[in-house]
Amino acid sequence: MRTHTRGAPTVFFISLLWPLLSPLVVVVAAAVEVDPSAGINFMGGNYNGHPMLYFNRGDVEEMQYAAAGTHRDMARRIREAGETMLEHPEEYLPPWSPAEFSARWNEVYGNNLGVLSMFCLLYPHRAGALDLAKDYMERMAAQPSWLVKDAPWDEVPLAHSLVGFATAYDFLYEYLNKGQQERFLQVIGNASRLMYEKSYVRGWGFQYLHNHQPTNCVALLTGSLVYMTQGYLQEAYLWTKQVLSIMEKSMVLLQDVTDGSLYEGVAYGTYTTRSLFQYMFLVQRHFAIGHFDHPWLLKHFAFLYRTILPGFQRTVAIADSNYNWFYGPESQLVFLDRYVLRNGSGNWLADLIHQNRVIEGTRAGWKRTAVVYSPH
Ligand SMILES: *[C@@H]1O[C@H](CO)[C@@H](O)[C@H](O)[C@H]1NC(C)=O
Ligand SMILES: *[C@@H]1O[C@H](CO)[C@@H](O)[C@H](O)[C@H]1NC(C)=O
Repeated sequence: MRTHTRGAPTVFFISLLWPLLSPLVVVVAAAVEVDPSAGINFMGGNYNGHPMLYFNRGDVEEMQYAAAGTHRDMARRIREAGETMLEHPEEYLPPWSPAEFSARWNEVYGNNLGVLSMFCLLYPHRAGALDLAKDYMERMAAQPSWLVKDAPWDEVPLAHSLVGFATAYDFLYEYLNKGQQERFLQVIGNASRLMYEKSYVRGWGFQYLHNHQPTNCVALLTGSLVYMTQGYLQEAYLWTKQVLSIMEKSMVLLQDVTDGSLYEGVAYGTYTTRSLFQYMFLVQRHFAIGHFDHPWLLKHFAFLYRTILPGFQRTVAIADSNYNWFYGPESQLVFLDRYVLRNGSGNWLADLIHQNRVIEGTRAGWKRTAVVYSPH
């Protein structure tokens, strides 16, 4: 499978960029109370347009400055990923053909689209970047399904496409023409609706802390938030409620994991936390649900710290692989530092892990082979 490791924890890079900027004020325009009795405190529902998922339009210019200044190392990685895609579009653009799109495990398409759209936001004047992103989205929108042909029971690839596509929609909304805005929104709505329906019948709706759960739930939440912003309140509300009802149970269960570990081990654990941390961020921003003082989070640093101690080779656990680090965990550590630890240790460990990554050879990058037990 083609991978694009430089852009690896895509959407997380995005949430990395803005936290150090001035505190954001969510635009809460006379909160649209869809169903105040149901227990979700919608802070918005009316977000004054896009972007809104991670930051507001007013923050974009500040992020562009930060990308050239305080956050230039982070921005450099995004720029390299964007430039690589621009250099070899034929390698990175999803195929138009549904047979080809669904022929292989295809989470890479959603992942790379997230980075590409961030690249466009930071460097809107880079010739060809926006056109590439729009071409990318058109190709994804042309697919009758984002599922993989040989694994139609598995919504994970769909989730990667949905989260990437909905994030790109949020970031690039103002650059899309009216037809694209409407058509792409229907794509997001259709994919979210399918995820919502499946959440009642698939394991990820009730198998807590399994890596598929936050992956699929955050995709549905992202789709819901975008759909809600576009005025489809009733449906998006139902979807959101379902996500929160699943994920909040996970958060309660994690309170009993007092050593900060994840039962899937380090490698798959980083795949889980990629979305789990995004979840915590999104519900904080959009619903004022606070998890940043969660006891498990406070201890999770120790779990990752172990991986750089002398002699540590790998963990063997359910669904673990022979890779210590999978999606991140640099981005998760920066997140921990910014929101939870606030003492510099998260950033320090992120740097150390980054220096210790295996770049060459069979252990480079990530892939889902050599798995002790894989849910796939
Ligand atoms: C969304 O789903 C409806 C109902 O299945 C279908 O008619 C429509 O073409 C889909 N829209 C897009 C843009 O895929
Ligand atoms: C930061 O917090 C973590 C978690 O409590 C702790 O393990 C680490 O030693 C702290 N670092 C510093 C520099 O105090």
